[in-house]
Amino acid sequence: MAVTIKLLSTALFLLVCAVGVTLAVNRCPDCDSTAVPYPLSTGPACGDQNYKIRCDAGSLIFDTLNNSYPITSIDRLNQRLVIRPASLVPNTCITTDLPFHGVQLNSSLPFNITGSNTIMFLNCTEGILQSPLDCSPTGLCHVYVNETSRMSACEAAPICCTFKAGGGATAYAIRARETGCRAYTSFVNLPKNLPVSQWPEPGMEFQWVSPLEPICSTQADCDGNSTCGTDPNSNGIRRCFCNSGLLWDPIQGVCAASGFGSNLFS
Ligand SMILES: *[C@@H]1O[C@H](CO)[C@@H](O)[C@H](O)[C@H]1NC(C)=O
Ligand SMILES: *[C@@H]1O[C@H](CO)[C@@H](O)[C@H](O)[C@H]1NC(C)=O
Ligand SMILES: *[C@@H]1O[C@H](CO)[C@@H](O)[C@H](O)[C@H]1NC(C)=O
Ligand SMILES: *[C@@H]1O[C@H](CO)[C@@H](O)[C@H](O)[C@H]1NC(C)=O
Ligand SMILES: *[C@@H]1O[C@H](CO)[C@@H](O)[C@H](O)[C@H]1NC(C)=O
Ligand SMILES: *[C@@H]1O[C@H](CO)[C@@H](O)[C@H](O)[C@H]1NC(C)=O
Repeated sequence: MAVTIKLLSTALFLLVCAVGVTLAVNRCPDCDSTAVPYPLSTGPACGDQNYKIRCDAGSLIFDTLNNSYPITSIDRLNQRLVIRPASLVPNTCITTDLPFHGVQLNSSLPFNITGSNTIMFLNCTEGILQSPLDCSPTGLCHVYVNETSRMSACEAAPICCTFKAGGGATAYAIRARETGCRAYTSFVNLPKNLPVSQWPEPGMEFQWVSPLEPICSTQADCDGNSTCGTDPNSNGIRRCFCNSGLLWDPIQGVCAASGFGSNLFS
């Protein structure tokens, strides 16, 4: 009996410790072998719920308003991730996400499309020629289409345009439309003058806004370095604010002795 109680209390102690660790770091478990850095969240009990992504059969998925894209890389220190854009419907110059109007982010969420993306709009209607995009017949999208067998159907679509994303209308959407452009592709950090044969795979980069301190309802939701208190900037929401002398580190998701340099050693 005494032994059983001792074993039980040991188990309880270990459980409490494990929970304590989870609360302090609150990072989601790896998705297969891919780390899921804070604040990204693959479930209700980890990460920050404003930063939801999905772990589906061992792959990370980013859900847009009406569609989903595989996540191909995550750069947690720069708070960026890359998705693989939609492919073409076979033997056409029409994107498979045309029914969803291309990539549409919810602008109420903390993700946006970075200025590092070179976007090519393909199979466009003539209306696009009024836009400030580079739609010249010798433009980069024509060079790309000409030299990429996967895109050969687009050679039959005379109008395509290239631009660098970021800001304004393209911060939350790369729009494909029946009256507009019926396909698109995207490249992250495409170097100027690199031959098409050396281009990276298509990708579209998003960045996320730094997360605020975690939401709490009681002190039990916070770790020993923070105190559950009312957020002065939002109505009735309570957050785990760092105790004095510690600073919220939005990249590690912890209260740390100093914000400076703490990311270099993790
Ligand atoms: C371009 O889009 C139009 C409208 O959806 C479609 O009819 C046409 O076949 C597309 N062009 C190519 C080359 O696929
Ligand atoms: C998303 O889907 C809904 C329902 O099908 C539709 O009403 C809406 O227009 C779609 N939005 C976009 C951006 O495609
Ligand atoms: C966009 O995100 C906000 C905040 O999470 C959510 O309340 C809203 O329902 C989302 N909108 C759509 C259309 O999914
Ligand atoms: C694309 O290929 C066509 C046909 O081979 C050629 O006429 C055109 O000049 C090429 N365009 C570019 C931008 O390379
Ligand atoms: C995207 O969000 C970041 C972080 O808040 C911000 O600095 C940047 O200006 C935004 N980019 C666009 C294109 O809105
Ligand atoms: C509390 O902060 C100290 C100083 O940065 C750190 O060593 C410790 O790991 C933190 N504890 C938790 C639970 O985050």
